[in-house]
Amino acid sequence: MEATANMQNTRENSADPNPQHLSKNAQKKLLKQQKFEAKKAEKKALMKEQKQRAAERKRKEWEEKLAGLTEDERLKLIDSRKEVRRERMEKRSEERGEKIQRLTKAKENGQNIVVDLEFSHLMTHSEIHSLVQQIMYCYAVNGRCSFPAHLWLTGCHGEMETQLQRLPGFDKWIIEKEKQSYIQAFSDQKDNLVYLTADSETVLHELEPTKVYIVGGLVDRNRWKGITMKKAEEQGIHTAKLPIGTYMKMSSSQVLTVNQVVEIFLKFLETRDWQASFFQVIPQRKRFEADSENCQEADWEKCKEENEESERKKKCIEVLSHD
Ligand SMILES: C[S@@+](CC[C@H](N)C(=O)[O-])C[C@H]1O[C@@H](n2cnc3c(N)ncnc32)[C@H](O)[C@@H]1O
Repeated sequence: MEATANMQNTRENSADPNPQHLSKNAQKKLLKQQKFEAKKAEKKALMKEQKQRAAERKRKEWEEKLAGLTEDERLKLIDSRKEVRRERMEKRSEERGEKIQRLTKAKENGQNIVVDLEFSHLMTHSEIHSLVQQIMYCYAVNGRCSFPAHLWLTGCHGEMETQLQRLPGFDKWIIEKEKQSYIQAFSDQKDNLVYLTADSETVLHELEPTKVYIVGGLVDRNRWKGITMKKAEEQGIHTAKLPIGTYMKMSSSQVLTVNQVVEIFLKFLETRDWQASFFQVIPQRKRFEADSENCQEADWEKCKEENEESERKKKCIEVLSHD
């Protein structure tokens, strides 16, 4: 692809992980990111420890409770706990059945949304990992929607495919997994393809059921600026951007992550309300300008929000791993 080849020549745009090959600005950004990752890992370890301690405390409380009872009372209490667990399992399996039904129906008449996975050669190992996590999140959110979309992963091979296949239960996901690109998979309806890109001049106002909306499977902190727009232009397919500017002011760029774009689409399919969809999905830190005095507070807010976001994702993913 010409667009890709041009950009590969730019040192700054390269996925080269060696920091010495980066500009000072990029090195600074990388250092900041590494510090943030280290803090995140520390927090994760702390939360794991707290969870283990809470489980241990619960176990002790249960044993103490049992110890203070007669044999008869003990048996009754154990039985009632078993009953609560059985009911919970039944409810989960019912919910799982309903989810399978919704997703199967979406395969027939749901809105087609494609995640284009043809950019994996432009990402580092950890960026691919991050994209895989985002896809897992998209799938989990879609499964919980009352009107799920028909999700596609196209151009899925190489490391991308390997990492996806490592996800527990991935082989059972009700989603289209295609080695082919979307251009091949939808060769008979090229005119219906709409590549979503923040660089498009066209603003998306309505979703059309016959259209196939494509999201660029890229985690690049906008290192590959404009790459999806160039790709769509070269392929001669339509492009559109989300109507963010009509509903809110962003603190920086309007480029969102893959999971945010898919989640906004899913919310819009349910509500037909862009504003509500944006406000529910776009993190507050991306929505307003923080002045320098509030910088520390903004950093803290960012950290808090990312933790809340990651907690939200974790909950979704926990639900997935129980399936
Ligand atoms: C992290 S962005 C990738 C940015 C990349 N540099 C590019 O040129 O598209 C992931 C994908 O989300 C979609 N996306 C992000 N922000 C968008 C917006 N404001 N409007 C439409 N699509 C958007 C695009 O499909 C984009 O490729």
